[in-house]
Amino acid sequence: MENAFSYAGRRALVVGCYSGMGAATAEIVQLLGGEVHGVDYKQPDAALASFTTCDLRDEAQIDAMLAAVGTDWDAVFYCAGLPQTHPPLDVMRVNFMAMRKVVDAMTAGMKPGGAVAIISSNAGLQFMSHMAEITELIETPDFDAGMAWCEGHLDLVNEGYTLSKEAIIIFTMRRAIEVVGKGIRVNCISPGPTSTPMMPDFEKAAGKKVIDAFVGPMERRAEAAEMGWPLVFLNSAGASFITGFNLIVDAGFVAGTMTGLVDLEALFNRAFADVADHATGDGE
Ligand SMILES: NC(=O)c1ccc[n+]([C@@H]2O[C@H](COP(=O)([O-])OP(=O)(O)OC[C@H]3O[C@@H](n4cnc5c(N)ncnc54)[C@H](O)[C@@H]3O)[C@@H](O)[C@H]2O)c1
Repeated sequence: MENAFSYAGRRALVVGCYSGMGAATAEIVQLLGGEVHGVDYKQPDAALASFTTCDLRDEAQIDAMLAAVGTDWDAVFYCAGLPQTHPPLDVMRVNFMAMRKVVDAMTAGMKPGGAVAIISSNAGLQFMSHMAEITELIETPDFDAGMAWCEGHLDLVNEGYTLSKEAIIIFTMRRAIEVVGKGIRVNCISPGPTSTPMMPDFEKAAGKKVIDAFVGPMERRAEAAEMGWPLVFLNSAGASFITGFNLIVDAGFVAGTMTGLVDLEALFNRAFADVADHATGDGE
């Protein structure tokens, strides 16, 4: 029997490789023997087999990047993302429209055995409530049409982050089924609060105590590698029967809320205390 978790002889592309979960994922794949190529709009310090600059807000740059890196990958990780402190339409561009374009190009070009892993968020777990609208967005024919849909649904887009993360989960499920006959898998993870360069933006948007209130039963934030390992697992041969799956990586927070063993009322009280502190300038 071979080691199904090994990346020896496998080529992986990490989109969003500069920092946080993407950087951790790149390091882990290298540790497991894989050849890692990166894409980002910021040049990473890490030694990668190649690096391609791309601002994922710009469709022309995505086209150029796809032409440069090709689509014949064993594993693609889409780890790029923007938080809700950025303009909502930029958030939709990077988190969803660019992701869809990259993943669709990759799954069209991959050989059987290839796999894609994307990062959603526990912020997207209410995706069922927008199934019809998000299906409409997913079915728009191209990048411009998708952005036009967003511009026509600004109320629903709201701050951009939640809808983009809900859309990732539904997209993952749909594409997984659509490409399953090609022997390609598509999965995503939904992280809970994680210590990465994005965290200060979440704290700014929601208040630090709100983030702290929802850390989950382990009472701490995850490290970036604790998201990298599950991503790397999903794109490994060890996950060969897993596709269309949203892996919730949240230290048991959802398990606790579903069973009533996490006291949501107490969490909301902690969060509301933050709002009061925030108003008096004591929140961060
Ligand atoms: N940190 C958390 O608590 C948390 C929780 C749930 C989900 N997430 C998601 O995890 C993913 C990774 O975020 P992270 O926490 O590692 O933060 P991060 O900011 O370290 O990583 C985001 C990466 O995306 C890249 N990026 C952003 N905009 C880009 C653009 N326009 N073009 C190209 N690259 C771009 C950044 O340079 C960076 O490498 C994101 O999708 C984020 O929404 C984070």
